Amino acid sequence: MKDKYGRNIDYIRISVTDRCNLRCRYCIPDEQAPVLPKEQLLSFDEIVRFCRVLPELGIHRVKLTGGEPLAREDTPRLAAAIKKIDGIFQVTLTTNGTLLAEKIPALEAAGVDGVNVSLDTLDEERFRALTRRPYLGRVKAGLEALNASSIPKIKLNCVPLEEINGDELEDIALLAKEGRMPVRFIEMMPVGSGREWTMIPEAAVKERLVAAFGPMTPVEGRLGNGPAAYYRFPAFSNPVGFISAMSHAFCEDCNRIRLTPDGFLRSCLFYGNGVDLKTILREENDDRQLARAVRQAIWEKPKRHPRGPAGEDRKMYQIGG
Ligand code: 5AD
Ligand code: SF4
Repeated sequence: MKDKYGRNIDYIRISVTDRCNLRCRYCIPDEQAPVLPKEQLLSFDEIVRFCRVLPELGIHRVKLTGGEPLAREDTPRLAAAIKKIDGIFQVTLTTNGTLLAEKIPALEAAGVDGVNVSLDTLDEERFRALTRRPYLGRVKAGLEALNASSIPKIKLNCVPLEEINGDELEDIALLAKEGRMPVRFIEMMPVGSGREWTMIPEAAVKERLVAAFGPMTPVEGRLGNGPAAYYRFPAFSNPVGFISAMSHAFCEDCNRIRLTPDGFLRSCLFYGNGVDLKTILREENDDRQLARAVRQAIWEKPKRHPRGPAGEDRKMYQIGG
């Protein structure tokens, strides 16, 4: 359905857990970051029930996120159940890749349409410093399994940060040269702990890549669901994309809402307010109440996000990156 500014909302990101087996410093501030008590997370049945009302509201594509969605045991089964709902055309997943190699068969069987893997560095030591875990090898195995899988759409996402990977962006872009995986560079947003890092703006990333690989040409039209702008380097078999919420706010084209792991429906990443669907799911049997609440949240989606830091204190792993 359309919001009050005429934007068509047809896509939802559902964070299925706030738990994660990494501790990326820009996402989770300290080792002992609090997680929600299990009973506050939406259950399998609650998420599926919620998803059943989406098609009538014009939402046909679902992304499962976290935390780390594969840290939740029933995520592949959940993807399969959502995929079976009439009117849901696409179910995708975004993951840190550490558990991917072992989960690929289940995700293939579920009919998952796409998987995005987040990876910010190809260096073992830096990976450990950033994520506080020595799991780069697992992510690499996950990427290999993903490339070899039958999952149709795969992508790699990287957040360029001066402190982490400023001198590695070319090497990360090279992952798009062969194989079937586009690479996207996502500007760090000043949400949660992200505020404390030095983001590298899109223009600077482009400059570094063009210096290394020569001129790039914009890809006409839209690829994918989201706000990425894609470019091609002649020697690359896959495009390189940029998602730049800060350099180029794309609020006027925003097509999405988000569900937090504890069942708050948020119409914008940058605003703390949301509609409490958990209470409705747990106290109301009538799905029309649910649909009404979703409609209200969409209608009231803010026009744009603040240009400065978000006025909210949840961290990314608690919202769904
Ligand atoms: N800004 C942009 N991306 C972020 N992520 C986590 N925190 C931020 C932030 N403040 C990214 C992760 C992953 C995705 C799920 O969200 O790197 O790519
Ligand atoms: Fe986990 Fe993703 Fe946050 Fe890293 S950025 S700690 S992988 S949720």
